[in-house]
Amino acid sequence: MELKDIMNSGIEAIKSASTLDKLNDVRIEYLSKKGHLTQVMGQMKSLPNEEKPLFGKKVNEVKQEIEVALKEKQEELQEAQLLEQMKEDKIDVSMPGVQFVSGSQNPLVMIQREIEDLFREMGYSVVEGDEIELDLYNFERANIPQDHPAREMQDTFYIDEHTLLRTHTTAIQTRTLEHFAPSIPLKVICPGKVYRRDDDDATHSHQFVQMEGLVVGHGITLADLKGTLSLFGKRMFGDKRVIRFRPSYFQFTEPSVEVDVSCHICDGKGCSVCKQTGWIEILGAGMVHPNVLKDAGYEDETLTGFAFGAGVERIAMLKYGIEDIRSFYINDKRFIEQFKRFE
Ligand code: PHE
Repeated sequence: MELKDIMNSGIEAIKSASTLDKLNDVRIEYLSKKGHLTQVMGQMKSLPNEEKPLFGKKVNEVKQEIEVALKEKQEELQEAQLLEQMKEDKIDVSMPGVQFVSGSQNPLVMIQREIEDLFREMGYSVVEGDEIELDLYNFERANIPQDHPAREMQDTFYIDEHTLLRTHTTAIQTRTLEHFAPSIPLKVICPGKVYRRDDDDATHSHQFVQMEGLVVGHGITLADLKGTLSLFGKRMFGDKRVIRFRPSYFQFTEPSVEVDVSCHICDGKGCSVCKQTGWIEILGAGMVHPNVLKDAGYEDETLTGFAFGAGVERIAMLKYGIEDIRSFYINDKRFIEQFKRFE
C-alpha cells in the first residue's frame, strides 16, 4: 500500500470503529510489527539514499497522525461506554423502596404480658395449667361441690363425668395451692384460656382468656387486695384511676367483691362506655375461702389469702375501645396491625 493510501484508509478505519475492540484491531492492522506502516518502511531499502530521510519523515508523520486519531477515538469510545454503563447503574432515589412487613402481637397477648410484668415486679410467679381439667380442681377444690347450684353460674363443656374444659383459671389456683401447701408466702398469677357454653356474640365467647392472682400468707387482708388491685387499675387504665369494691358472691372466696375502676373515657363523669355511672366493672375477687385453703393442704387456720380473676378480653376491649370480642379471634390482619403502635 502507498503511504497516502495508508493514511486515508487508516483514518477512515479509525472513524468507523464502533467499539474499543474494533479500534484495537485497527491499531494492530496499521501499527503492529506486521502492520501496514512497518511494511511500507520496508520500501525504504529500494529508495535512493537522498530520498530516504524525507520518506522516513513522512512515514513518521503518518504514524503520528494515526496514533493521534487512535487516541482521540479511544477516548471517545471509552466515554460512550462509561455513559452507557452509568445509564444501567443509575439509582432512582425517588423510587418507592421494598416494604418489609413486620408482625404485630395480638392485643390479648400484649395485655397478658403487661399484666404478667406488673405482677412479676411485685414478686409473683407466673403459673400455667392444662385446658382440660378434672372436675376436682375446677369445681370441688374451689368449694363448689357436686350438685351445688353455684355450678350453674358457669356453663361447662364436659368431656366425661370427671373431665371438662376448665371454666375458670381458678383451676390453676387449686392445683397450685395443692402443689405448694403448706409453704408460704404464695404469690402467683395464672393466665390461661377458659371455656364456657355461651352463644358467641359481640360480648360473649365460648373461649376467652382469664388471669387470676392468688396470695397466701400471714396477715393478708382485704386491704392488701385493694392496694394490689388499685395498682392494677392504674397500670391498665392510667395513673388517675381509682377502684371501688362492691359486694358479690363467689363460692371460693369469702367475702367476695366485684371490682370497678373509675371510667378512663370520661374520668368518672359518666359516658356511654360506663353507662353513665362513672364506673366500669373489671374483675371479681375476694378473700380465699377457708375451705379452699384447707382442702388444698393448708392446715394452719391463721393463714389467709386473697384471689382475683380478670377477663383479658374485657380489659383489652375497654382499653382500646374494641366493640366486638370476636375481633380478637378471627385473625384479620387489619385489626391486629393497629396494635403495632402500642408495643
Ligand atoms: N373465677 C371467677 C370467674 O371466673 C373469677 C374470680 C377469681 C373471682 C378469683 C374471685 C376470685 O368469674
